[in-house]
Amino acid sequence: MEGLPVIDLGGFDGAGFARISGEIARACRGMGFFYIVNHGVPAPLMREAFTRSAEFFALPLAEKAALSMDRVGGNRGYAALGREALDPVRGPDRKEAFNIGLDLAPDDPQLLAGVPFRTLNAWPKDTAFRATMLAYFDACCALSNRLHRAFAQDLGLPLDHFHDKLDRPMATLRILHYPATSTEEIGAGEHTDWGNITLLATDDVGGLEVRTRAGEWLAAPPMPGAFIVNIGDCLMRWTNDIYVSTPHRVINRSGRERYSIAFFFDPNPEAVVEAIPSCVAPGAAALYPRIAASDYLQMKLEAAKATM
Ligand code: OGA
Ligand code: NI
Repeated sequence: MEGLPVIDLGGFDGAGFARISGEIARACRGMGFFYIVNHGVPAPLMREAFTRSAEFFALPLAEKAALSMDRVGGNRGYAALGREALDPVRGPDRKEAFNIGLDLAPDDPQLLAGVPFRTLNAWPKDTAFRATMLAYFDACCALSNRLHRAFAQDLGLPLDHFHDKLDRPMATLRILHYPATSTEEIGAGEHTDWGNITLLATDDVGGLEVRTRAGEWLAAPPMPGAFIVNIGDCLMRWTNDIYVSTPHRVINRSGRERYSIAFFFDPNPEAVVEAIPSCVAPGAAALYPRIAASDYLQMKLEAAKATM
């Protein structure tokens, strides 16, 4: 079976823009999942993020629990093993995670006004962790915005069409740790991602699987230095299903522990997610009702909380 496409972004900001945008668009309209290489995020920064992540998860549980998402709020902080069930039918996921959002100043007007998901980040004591993660967050924001220029090109929109919907995004940098499991316990249950796109970096352990439209599970093997990009629900809704938010899951069959880093690029909280007019055929109706991006994310977060 054919694997996921690999797209080389070398030349994307110059002479290669139209060609590479075309490759990206084909992938978004097809599998909704693809690898990117030559993406501009420095390899040393990616390696450092994995080092800092492993150090974080090695902290005593009490230190991590002090930063729990339930205390921090705003989709930030630590989620312990078993807290989430991305596929409620399969039960709690065998993973722990730590979320970092847009880093706000304490006097940010939206924070003071109580805008949803405008919360301060919580940090472990290690200042190197904070510096690395913020640099990684910024690099992923920049890359995500670049990719949206390809989407706009493909959809016949001004290249900066998405800019004002994504300039203060509900982006989440999520470091993940999947313990070694002896059985085929589910690491992350079958789910779609919720925002516009996700940039996923993994270690060399493997275990990510993508569901094809034929219903088969296709392995997405590790590729050193690459990001795996996938479309999320918001972009699917904006494009009226022209782009596909494809279900995926993680099963760590390796017998080793596994680390990954997901960057979820969700829109600004106040952005209204509704079909882009040019994505709706003349005379046809939009497939989804309009919804504020913050309401959509809130709904998905509630649904993913493990109930046991
Ligand atoms: C996710 C996800 C994949 C991975 O967190 O949404 O799909 O490899 N993660 O950790
Ligand atoms: Ni996912």
